[in-house]
Amino acid sequence: MTTKQKRKGFGTIGVVLATAGSAIGLGNIWKFPYILGQNGGAAWLVIYLVCVALFGIPIMIAEMYIGKSGQKDRWKWIQGWSVALCILLLGFYTVVTGWCLEYLHLSMQGHFAGKSPEVLKLEFEAFSSGKLWPAIWMTIALMLSSMIEWAGVEKGIERMSKMLMPFLLVILVLLIGKSLTLDGSTVGVRFLMWPDWEKFSIGSILNAMGQCFFSLSVGMGILVAYSSYMQKQQNIPRTAMQVAILDTIVALMAGVAIFPAVFALGIDPTEGPELVFVTLPSVFAQMTAGSVFATLFFLLMSIAAITSLVSIMEVIVAWMKDKTRWTRHKRMLVIVPTIWLLGMLCILLPNCFNLFDSLTSKMMIPAGALLSAWVVGWKVNKEDFIREMTTHGGLQAWMVQLILLMLRWLTPVIILIIFVTGLV
Ligand code: PHE
Repeated sequence: MTTKQKRKGFGTIGVVLATAGSAIGLGNIWKFPYILGQNGGAAWLVIYLVCVALFGIPIMIAEMYIGKSGQKDRWKWIQGWSVALCILLLGFYTVVTGWCLEYLHLSMQGHFAGKSPEVLKLEFEAFSSGKLWPAIWMTIALMLSSMIEWAGVEKGIERMSKMLMPFLLVILVLLIGKSLTLDGSTVGVRFLMWPDWEKFSIGSILNAMGQCFFSLSVGMGILVAYSSYMQKQQNIPRTAMQVAILDTIVALMAGVAIFPAVFALGIDPTEGPELVFVTLPSVFAQMTAGSVFATLFFLLMSIAAITSLVSIMEVIVAWMKDKTRWTRHKRMLVIVPTIWLLGMLCILLPNCFNLFDSLTSKMMIPAGALLSAWVVGWKVNKEDFIREMTTHGGLQAWMVQLILLMLRWLTPVIILIIFVTGLV
């Protein structure tokens, strides 16, 4: 029996959790909280929420429609674009997931206890610029996500998401509990939430839009691939909204778990890899029961990274099915070694790592989002889209018109602005 005959697709909760698993990733943990604090807390949060509602959710709906309605077979070049993008993304995402696993391993051994920030910084630099250990952990990360992919859409991706996403929320609650009970934690809460209009600028708005696309996993073909496994009666707008809400809540929770602790221990906040692999280990080094909380934190990171990794891999696995009609396992035997080679390239040539990173997030993701908005806004049959949204989606006709308006006009203009400023 082929995979096609066996496939029934996602259940209703399954599709929400799997998509949320993709959306909730490193961006929520190492980027969102810092951008929020740096750009004026609650002031920026309002703009971010507006971006999610006005641009994020309509593009999510567009991509899910392309996937669910089978339009992806008509717009093969969109798929080609996503595949190229996902291949580049995979190279560095597997490497970073490997870092998370290494740090999980170190935390379990109580490795950070009593170490100074300087020592931890040197250790991270030595580790990440090394070759052997990053390669070993990258291989383990790839094997873990391949095992999930190997098991298929329902037995792998759906089951993994149903188990791991609730677990991720529990870990976050535990970390928040610890962080907020540290003396002096209110400074961190203030950094995150106090609406400070002085820190706010035009750049903050562009940041909000860029972060919104990256965080919701739009523009990468992931939503297209996942929603091609949706059942006919499943509701696209509701799924998009639930995922966007979950993604935003987790990003906010990550902020409350991280920054109060960072400020309480008198450490300067940072973003990106440095926040996660240097600043936070320094926090754990000084905290009582630091090893336990470090282990929980890196478990959280590893789960967030692996569920996102699986979603990027699925784009390629699904695309190759249309091309070759091979079984899922046969396709994976070709795809996994290719990803491994790309990961190795990123490890051996650090420039490649940075190039892949900026090429994808500054140029290819906004362009991908633009393509989906354009196809649904201008190219697909409008009546079919309206019918899908009003029957299975439960929307009123005027709401669909509003979505179409966003996709046709506002979204392309905004994306072009992000694109140009990103290039500059
Ligand atoms: N949405 C993910 C995040 O917020 C990022 C991601 C990128 C996920 C690429 C899948 C693929 O971190």
